[in-house]
Amino acid sequence: MDWGMQNRLARMFSATSSNSVMLAVDHGYFMGPTRRLEDVRATITPLMPYADALALTRGVLRSSVPPSSTTPIVLRVSGGATILQEDLSNEAITTAMRDASRLNVSAVALSVFVGSPHEHQSLVNLSRLVDDGEDAGMPVLAITAVGKELEKRDARYLALACRVSAEIGAHVVKTYYCDGFSKVVEGCPVPLVVAGGPRLENDRAALELAHHAIEEGAHGIDMGRNIWQSDHPVAMLKALRAVVHEKATVREALDVLDQEVGQTPAPAKLPA
Ligand code: R5P
Repeated sequence: MDWGMQNRLARMFSATSSNSVMLAVDHGYFMGPTRRLEDVRATITPLMPYADALALTRGVLRSSVPPSSTTPIVLRVSGGATILQEDLSNEAITTAMRDASRLNVSAVALSVFVGSPHEHQSLVNLSRLVDDGEDAGMPVLAITAVGKELEKRDARYLALACRVSAEIGAHVVKTYYCDGFSKVVEGCPVPLVVAGGPRLENDRAALELAHHAIEEGAHGIDMGRNIWQSDHPVAMLKALRAVVHEKATVREALDVLDQEVGQTPAPAKLPA
């Protein structure tokens, strides 16, 4: 792996823990103004100091992140379908590698839709992105997307989707935690990070998810709604950092959360 590629990966993954806490705020690219992400700048400003990377689109990067920021960026470069369509898998590469380089991002990210009507197209998109990424020294993060079919999130399916993504050349794969997750890790030769998915019943459930994922071999999280839809997003992000970087137990992470909540009032500006 060339120096530039290694350097970009080292910006996002801790040399001490080998793990990363990525904050995902790219949901608007197909969902529009998601609850508590209506004003992206307001949502991310207090969170950015505690994120190892920020996952977003170029539109949000240019409009809502100060260029003086040093937080590494994972740039979403696929899109082309919205939640108004039944099938979300009809995606193309929507951002050129030269623009990703111009934006000085640390990685590019694209969804692959294994088992969906546009499976072939999304896998070919990944292969082209990896070719361009290798030329530019830019890591590619493949996202094993399930569209609206959330029930697809089982070990057999995710192991297939992650392995295929890695075989095509993804440098990092983002997937979901599931029962039997260690099988997904075992079959994937590159680091895995886990998404949170839709908001769980409470903060504890999200901390449990992260804890199990790390314990079973994930190299971090790339989580959105379970952080910024929490009533205490900063405290939640700090608690997740304890899990991901210090291998904190769920009890210890809840202590971090409680301690931080005691110190930090819930942001008044966010809608209920
Ligand atoms: C889809 O919108 C993106 O890939 C998200 O970045 C990903 O699903 C992670 O966000 P969440 O934890 O909210 O699922």
